[in-house]
Amino acid sequence: MENILVTGGRGFIGFNFIKQIANKKNINIINLDKRSYSSQKGDIFKSFNNVKDIKMNICNQTNVTNIIKNYKPNKIVNFAAESHVDRSIENPKHFIENNILSTFSLLEGCLRGLPSRHKYKFIQISTDEVYGSITKGSATTSFPMKPSSPYSSSKAASENIAYSYYKTFNMPIIITNCTNNYGPYQFPEKLIPLTIFNALNNKKISIYGNGTQSRDWLHVDDHITAILKIIKSGKPGGKYHIGSNHEISNLKLVKIILKIIAQSNKNIKYNDLLNLISFVTDRPAHDLRYSLDITSTSKLHWTPKLDFEFGLKSTVNWYLENSKWIYKNLQNRYDGKRIGLLK
Ligand code: TYD
Repeated sequence: MENILVTGGRGFIGFNFIKQIANKKNINIINLDKRSYSSQKGDIFKSFNNVKDIKMNICNQTNVTNIIKNYKPNKIVNFAAESHVDRSIENPKHFIENNILSTFSLLEGCLRGLPSRHKYKFIQISTDEVYGSITKGSATTSFPMKPSSPYSSSKAASENIAYSYYKTFNMPIIITNCTNNYGPYQFPEKLIPLTIFNALNNKKISIYGNGTQSRDWLHVDDHITAILKIIKSGKPGGKYHIGSNHEISNLKLVKIILKIIAQSNKNIKYNDLLNLISFVTDRPAHDLRYSLDITSTSKLHWTPKLDFEFGLKSTVNWYLENSKWIYKNLQNRYDGKRIGLLK
């Protein structure tokens, strides 16, 4: 029997991870999630017979160590993080406290709570944002980290701390960095679901700056298959880059989303949707481009499977068919107002 400890399993990527492996034979999943504003509400694990969902702030060292002592996980996948750059500009302390201390607490929990000969792997989920803006080429796994935002710097710090536990305590730490994810169940403060939500509600669609910033978008299902591959074959102390090599500017992406929405309903005109686009003050320290060299993960025989056009279309259609999910999770949590501007 394999015991997998997931943190942040009510969040976007964590939930998609659990969904992909739930109900599989010979695994138990324990999810620790503090149920923050972006965690999904409700009884979302009810159809999975092997998921134990526990409400817990993993910054609480005693509670985390007790859970680890009791469950003796063989795999720990640390998804839990505050991840919205704009919120990190608004409230940096929150990111420093939550992202860094939660990782530290989980590492300490494993160090103190697991027997010395216990076999396990600890996967620290990180981001391409730790490298800062990459004007040319792609960041390799040995590229220096140069984060621009309190969010990305908190992730870079978490990575460094995790790696130090590998070096100092010989813990089986693996770090993964992934490019921007898209797919179902993403909290609608992020560009893709927010654009869909605003288009459906005839609200302004804000493009920061001139919209020429580009991101490499990977479907969340491909991210999960990469993580599973890394869990299986990744080496302790290793760093693995995950991405799709599918770069697109924010403005182009938004226009494609609007086209898909217009194609889904004859009463919605593409030109009317285009009129909702509004260019607004740029995000402070807005990174122009991210790009990862994914050789490390390709060597494990992983490649992204989902074609971007297809993946985006099915994602937009998922949000259109599940607009109730958007409303339920947004309620009293996010009013859509612009945040993260310097005061
Ligand atoms: P986001 O989804 O916040 O992800 P990240 O900042 O982690 O890449 O934003 C994706 C890109 O879209 C980023 O360049 C900022 C930009 N953006 C807008 O132009 N308008 C918006 O309303 C949002 C939320 C983001």
